[in-house]
Amino acid sequence: MTATRTSIHGQWSSRWVFILAATGSAVGLGNIWRFPYVTGENGGGAFVLVYLLCVALIGIPIMMAEILLGRRGRQSPINTMRTLAIEEKQSSHWSLLGWMGVIAGFLILSFYSVVAGWTIFYIIQNAGTGFDGLSAEDISALFDSLLASPQTLLLLHTAFMFLTALVVSLGVKSGLERAVKFLMPSLFILLLIMVGYAISTEGFSDGLRYMFEPDFSKLSGSSILAAMGQAFFSLSLGMGAIMVYGSYLPSNASIVNTSITIAFADTCVAILAGLAIFPLVFTYGLEPSSGAGLIFVTLPVAFSQMPLGQILGTAFFVLLMFAAWTSSISLLEPAVAWLSENQNMTRVKASIVAGVIAWVLGLGSVLSFNLWEDYTFYGMTYFDVMDKFTSNILLPLGGLLIAIFAGWLMRRQSSQQEIATSGFFYAVWKFLVRVVAPLGVSLVFLNAIGVIGG
Ligand code: PHE
Repeated sequence: MTATRTSIHGQWSSRWVFILAATGSAVGLGNIWRFPYVTGENGGGAFVLVYLLCVALIGIPIMMAEILLGRRGRQSPINTMRTLAIEEKQSSHWSLLGWMGVIAGFLILSFYSVVAGWTIFYIIQNAGTGFDGLSAEDISALFDSLLASPQTLLLLHTAFMFLTALVVSLGVKSGLERAVKFLMPSLFILLLIMVGYAISTEGFSDGLRYMFEPDFSKLSGSSILAAMGQAFFSLSLGMGAIMVYGSYLPSNASIVNTSITIAFADTCVAILAGLAIFPLVFTYGLEPSSGAGLIFVTLPVAFSQMPLGQILGTAFFVLLMFAAWTSSISLLEPAVAWLSENQNMTRVKASIVAGVIAWVLGLGSVLSFNLWEDYTFYGMTYFDVMDKFTSNILLPLGGLLIAIFAGWLMRRQSSQQEIATSGFFYAVWKFLVRVVAPLGVSLVFLNAIGVIGG
């Protein structure tokens, strides 16, 4: 009976379209902007190792859980959780998990859109005068002057949020397939070119060592938490984005294969981004730990030096903007799906309402780089708080609850029907989602607040 439930929002035309869409959601600023910058803040190699472990042992099983819940519920995460909870004879309050996801989506999109706005600025800058002849200091100064202007940041944030709401209002299915099919391979090739350039620089071996030689003395409770948060953020997990995309997935598609494919592609892009950036950081004597601006001050230096730099630079930031776009729409989709299910709104109206909420929340991030720079909370600006709180707390918490629901509360026959694989793979998944993932998230939380460990 449950297997025949259909989504009022329609379905992907095939498993491939789902893989493309979910990869589009996963691959974004998280891989190219956030991964290098958070790796740099947390000391490199050991952080990367913990990140990879989190992707494999916590991320992939939770991704499978999200897809299976979404596909079984076939509604927005809020209504999916309520329906499934009732079906499994659990409290209907599980819908709160969907609510938490919607809130996390708004908070993430609010600052994500501001960073995506920086990519728009860099497209214009590249296509215009380019970075030719600018020194590393000039480029740093250019970035600082961008951050210092609330007007420019506001304009760019508004433009990006408009683009996001526009696609969501049209329905995420139209256009996404074509965009992602062309985009992902292009971005991948361009990253390979960038890595090629990085290999030719003198800092390459330092960069490589920084990323892959683990120095465990740099691993604190908070950096382990940051690595786990980055895994959730990069894979789009814990807030219902993958769940809502899963709700449009045809019933016969394999959840195991699709999850592994998406996680693999996402991880490759992050590692390539690191390989492109850290050698430059060392070559030009920059600080790996310089924070959220890291790629915006290192990559243009490379573009200013390499042959065809202006064309490649423009192409790079265009692709990065598109990658951010295909991620941002998945941040808004859970809210819009719910608004159009429950509040009887058209998709257009729902997208406007949701877009405006995220836009308003983003104003704080715009101001945190200039007028509100000095208003900090434990040394973090509004932007930093949004970024760290969502990735390191909200997403893993959402993931933990998803794992508990799918692993412990759902009847075996329900989850097995969706996972639909040989007994062995099902048993492996069940063990990971029941024991490893919840325990992993809990231990990392407890360790970070100092209840256990050092
Ligand atoms: N995964 C996206 C990225 O790496 C960001 C994202 C997070 C999207 C959570 C949806 C949900 O850029």
